[in-house]
Amino acid sequence: MEPNELEQTLVLIKPDALKVSLTGYILSQFSEFHTGLRYAGAKIVHVTRMLAEEHYAEHKGKAFYSALISYITGEIHYAERPQRRRVVALVYCGPDAVKKVRSIAGPTNPHVARDTAPGTIRALGTVVPVKDDAGNTVGERLDNLVHASATTEEAEREIKLWFKPDDIMPYMRLYPTDISEDYYYYRGGLLLSDYEPGARCLAAPGDTVWKSDLEALRKLSRGATAPCSLDAIAAKYLINQAIRS
Ligand code: RTP
Ligand code: MG
Repeated sequence: MEPNELEQTLVLIKPDALKVSLTGYILSQFSEFHTGLRYAGAKIVHVTRMLAEEHYAEHKGKAFYSALISYITGEIHYAERPQRRRVVALVYCGPDAVKKVRSIAGPTNPHVARDTAPGTIRALGTVVPVKDDAGNTVGERLDNLVHASATTEEAEREIKLWFKPDDIMPYMRLYPTDISEDYYYYRGGLLLSDYEPGARCLAAPGDTVWKSDLEALRKLSRGATAPCSLDAIAAKYLINQAIRS
């Protein structure tokens, strides 16, 4: 089978990597020279809880979930400096993008990475015990520096979660888009078709949106069920919007 020239994958440079200034090293490990992959998207994102919970939805309910959400939002590594809480989100494009990036990232657990895959990025990570209020160790947090999509299906879901179509130049957009003909607003977990004070605009007439998002918004606005939740759509279209109290 021909390799897919346009295969894409999502990388997040996590807050622990930013804190110890490994960003340049990580970018060079994933560079076109090393991987043959091209940049399709890049942005600095302040990760809200809503975005974190959507991104790691598959882990909801697991023992490490709460620590994982605090980690990816930057609350752990920038506890006193909310203004520094951010990740670098990147889309790489090219043949075998998912597999290539995962193999350079390395195994999930930094201890395993050091033992079995020295030289991978995650071999530079740390494992931190998670304690309960009584000080007993109840699990561990894997501070592994980068996220990388595990499959092409996961990459599609994640790229659509972190990037709007207009964040990616048209030649490199892999997933279908559509033009909104209506207004869609979000306030307090509800979808509105008319502006109300405090509402945020998710899409306006003429905006380019992922086709799957528009289909879901149309269904949700009719009160029907959609393949994804409203929060999964809102988390992205509200990325980096000013924080209002
Ligand atoms: P990622 O999604 O961040 O690229 O990592 P991954 O595919 O290699 O691993 P995944 O199973 O998806 O886990 C997501 C993140 O959750 C944390 N984790 N902690 N304590 C634990 O047993 C545990 N297992 C996973 C890690 O930070 C991992 O990157
Ligand atoms: Mg994963």
